[in-house]
Amino acid sequence: MSSYDVIVIGAGPGGYVCAIRCAQLGLKTAVVEGRETLGGTCLNVGCIPSKALLHASHQLHEAEHNFAKMGLKGKSPSVDWKQMQAYKEEVIEGNTKGIEFLFKKNKIDWLKGWGSIPSAGKVKVGDEVHDTKNIIIASGSEPSALPGVEVDEKVVVTSTGALSLGKIPKKMVVIGAGVIGLELGSVYSRLGAEVTVIEFLKEITPGMDPEVQKTFQRILKKQGLNFVMGAAVQKTEASKTKAKVTYKLLKDDSEHVIEADTVLVATGRKPYSDGLGLDALGVEMTPRGQIKVGSDWQTNVPGIYAIGDVTEGPMLAHKAEDEGMAAAEQVAGKHGHVNYGVIPGVIYTWPEVANVGETEATLKEQGRAYKVGKFMFMGNGRAKANFASDGFVKILADKETDRILGAHIIGPAAGDLIHEVCVAMEFGASAEDLALTCHAHPTYSEAVREAALACGDGPIHS
Ligand code: NAI
Repeated sequence: MSSYDVIVIGAGPGGYVCAIRCAQLGLKTAVVEGRETLGGTCLNVGCIPSKALLHASHQLHEAEHNFAKMGLKGKSPSVDWKQMQAYKEEVIEGNTKGIEFLFKKNKIDWLKGWGSIPSAGKVKVGDEVHDTKNIIIASGSEPSALPGVEVDEKVVVTSTGALSLGKIPKKMVVIGAGVIGLELGSVYSRLGAEVTVIEFLKEITPGMDPEVQKTFQRILKKQGLNFVMGAAVQKTEASKTKAKVTYKLLKDDSEHVIEADTVLVATGRKPYSDGLGLDALGVEMTPRGQIKVGSDWQTNVPGIYAIGDVTEGPMLAHKAEDEGMAAAEQVAGKHGHVNYGVIPGVIYTWPEVANVGETEATLKEQGRAYKVGKFMFMGNGRAKANFASDGFVKILADKETDRILGAHIIGPAAGDLIHEVCVAMEFGASAEDLALTCHAHPTYSEAVREAALACGDGPIHS
């Protein structure tokens, strides 16, 4: 048994980042993690492996659709699924081992096993109970269940199973047109599967800018994805190799059945805090099962903090990381802070989709006068050269002050471009500030500047 300043429960992006910051601030730190490897959902069965498959399948798409146009002739590559999986595993290993290295470098102990909290100031792992001044819960989230749908992770899968399918399905049904459904649906569509996405709402990616939603769906359709919108999935019936999905169309209540080799259930995730003993400790929860925290990420039980997916807010790795750093600073007596108004969201399809800040809908709700500066990638020289001219940048700025309030991008490298706007927003910049900043030519980022120019006297290239 040892005693610590901080024990972090969970080694996902929230937990491991928090632990590293704690150690940097001179706190004796340990992390409890029951998985074989560090990194949590994100590194093991989420963000990182899905990006490996998105990258690989995008290369195939380029070879099939754009190589010949550039004078690169020859047979398109064929898919060696086993090798693609091996590549993905290598990417995971490189990343998870990297966290292990960082733990050693920062002298953070990894307490292997699943932790529980017998009382404030104590964490139990296996048979050992460790003393600690502070506990930071970063136990993450898990896929939420859908009534009538039994997941076996072989035929009916969550994102975890979808990353490690035995073979590429001929037909795939994706339940839910959210981030996971569209990213993994894209992967298998590019690899040759006939993909049908069934979505409850009328639009894909709920909450996003409606123009982005429309453009995004149009592009995905062009890439071969089928959509059944306004449909509620009732049940799945699976055999060893196939499954039937029954759904009801909301417009006329008619029932339909579709068959597939693989069904991906991507209808959201829920906070995970099972087995920690929070009930007995009297830790206050929200009605949605999240741990309730104050502005210092402390729960109602002094000395117990919580961050990331298990708390309120968007379930995003980078939100968890920011909270991890800020909570560490709070524990160390500093003033950790997270600006929840500037947390970008990115979908890593092709093209990418990214957003930050307000949408037109939220601004209308607030009754705030705003202006819109929009620029199509069609007017961007680099995008045209790279077959990436679909999409646009849209900047929302205050009508009076010109202060940037939000941005919505669909297009090449949107997930990187958005950060220029994030930095501008952190500095309280106006659209004119962005427009007056020299942007290298030819880059995709010129489209961001042009959208900023569109908030003023107008863009040059449209
Ligand atoms: P989501 O909340 O993004 O989307 C779920 C979709 O399923 C919604 O459009 C919803 O209307 C639909 N739906 C719900 N019940 C349905 C039913 N019975 N029939 C048909 N459609 C139904 O959830 P998703 O994609 O599972 O992602 C979970 C979490 O993981 C999200 O919070 C997301 O932000 C996060 N994530 C983020 C990524 C990123 O940042 N790139 C990548 C993957 C996940």
